[in-house]
Amino acid sequence: MKILGIETSCDETAAAVVEDGVRILSNVVVSQIDIFAEYGGVIPEVAARSHLEAMMPVVKKALLDASCTWNDIDAIAVTHAPGLLGSLLIGTLTARTLAILHNKPLYAVHHLKSHVYANWLEVTKSKAESSSDTLKAVRPSLWSSDDSALDSSSNLFATPNFPLLALVVSGGHTQILYMPGHNKFEIIGTTHDDAIGECFDKVAKILGLPYPGGPSITRAARGEIEGATRPGDSDKYKLPHPKVEGLDFSFSGLKTAVLRAVQKELGVPISYPSHKLKELLSAEQVCDFAASFQKTAVEILVEKLEMAKREYPETKSVVIAGGVSANQALREALPEAYFPATFLSGDNGAMVAAACYFEILSGVNPVNPYKLNIYPRISIQD
Ligand SMILES: Nc1ncnc2c1ncn2[C@@H]1O[C@H](COP(=O)(O)OP(=O)(O)OP(=O)(O)O)[C@@H](O)[C@H]1O
Ligand SMILES: [Mg+2]
Repeated sequence: MKILGIETSCDETAAAVVEDGVRILSNVVVSQIDIFAEYGGVIPEVAARSHLEAMMPVVKKALLDASCTWNDIDAIAVTHAPGLLGSLLIGTLTARTLAILHNKPLYAVHHLKSHVYANWLEVTKSKAESSSDTLKAVRPSLWSSDDSALDSSSNLFATPNFPLLALVVSGGHTQILYMPGHNKFEIIGTTHDDAIGECFDKVAKILGLPYPGGPSITRAARGEIEGATRPGDSDKYKLPHPKVEGLDFSFSGLKTAVLRAVQKELGVPISYPSHKLKELLSAEQVCDFAASFQKTAVEILVEKLEMAKREYPETKSVVIAGGVSANQALREALPEAYFPATFLSGDNGAMVAAACYFEILSGVNPVNPYKLNIYPRISIQD
């Protein structure tokens, strides 16, 4: 079964064709990062307008790359929730129109389900963006130094087993989900305030690092920024772990702790404008703050995941999902967990098609293409 997946929930315009929920035939992602790097964050109206321009060329390229015509497509899947209202509208209106025009069943997919199901997508050596490094990053514990074991058709993945725990770490969410089986989700932990990706983005801004903050923080922690002569010292600044009950998270305090530590280090009062701090920081200080923050953020995630595993001892697999799952330090801290290939960590259409396939297997019905609504804030459990 070939599914066309369409994703426009934030600032990536994406479409992909996936066979039987696991085989990526094409995966086209047009990112608006270059536009928003200038502003330091996403501007919803600009994102919607950019989706409108990119949407149909992206869908056409996804079909072309997959060597498919509309006759080959069995269903269309689209993200209808959660996300930015204008962005969701462009994707869903496109999918609705295409479903009517080409007489295809239309499925509405929750964005976080898609992030989770990125872990079921097969990644062969030829599809990964940079062979061995990427493969090693996907499943460190399965990595064999014998490269001959990975020919162009080899699949790195063993499929996750149920019941499983899914740690969703993205730009808008930080949740631990319990999945007793396919398409069954129970939220067992969630953030009380900022999401972890948002925290990376805000800390990067304080340090004067470019948007998006996740990759920028990692580069700075490695000492890969202009003027740096060494990697950051992750033990230089002691940052607090939030005291949140149970499996829940809180990241706004960590962001503020970084801000206060920077102000203290620079000897300026707390009233000092945060956007001017970057002018006073040396490259080494930026690297040390980035490394210390990244280490603390990863520790917090790992601690809660360990707690969840103790509370759900029947857990057979742990999967990590969402944009922050691209983080190398997190991958190294969780060698037994499933991670999507880094190019599937962020928003893409392939994960939408994968989630849709497993929804269909679980008995989910298509939606009415004349009536499909969007839900910018709906939970994965609703
Ligand atoms: N290597 C990395 N390390 C840490 N964070 C990263 C990395 N790469 C990307 N991110 C973060 O991931 C986030 C984007 O992830 P994603 O695209 O899943 O979020 P979103 O789609 O905007 O939000 P959501 O999925 O919650 O709706 C950004 O906050 C970005 O900084
Ligand atoms: Mg996302």
